[in-house]
Amino acid sequence: MKILVIHGPNLNLLGKREPDIYGSDSLEQINGLIQEHASVKDISIDFYQSNHEGDIIDRIHRAASEGPERCDALVINPGAFTHYSIAIRDAIQGTGLPAIEVHLSNLDAREPFRQTSVIAPVCRGRITGLGYRGYLLAIDALGEIAG
Ligand code: DQA
Repeated sequence: MKILVIHGPNLNLLGKREPDIYGSDSLEQINGLIQEHASVKDISIDFYQSNHEGDIIDRIHRAASEGPERCDALVINPGAFTHYSIAIRDAIQGTGLPAIEVHLSNLDAREPFRQTSVIAPVCRGRITGLGYRGYLLAIDALGEIAG
């Protein structure tokens, strides 16, 4: 089974960006932890990071099409797009890929505008506030749901 892990805007800055909120691990380090965890479970991972809404949508479409970028399921941290991108929501819903939304920080303890997700209703579930561990838990869950 293959899972696509999408990191949205500004997540390429992890490690340097507000470490008190997002932790001191870089995106590369987090991807390393995900990779290590998934290989023990015999799950392949494709990683994708973009700061651009349309590029994220195109990648989701490719994950649902025949070809080398096809995936069985999706873990997505949509970054700030979480709070307003109906287009990413439609891409997840339109492809029908089983998805889990992950956030490093605890959105329920942050500004009110971060407490709304337009993406969560089209996901199987949502993990928020557990740092990098959220990605590992999402992979375990999708391994069972979509494996
Ligand atoms: C985030 C939370 C979002 O509100 C924010 O815009 C991010 C990161 C998180 O992982 O905690 O970029 O998705």
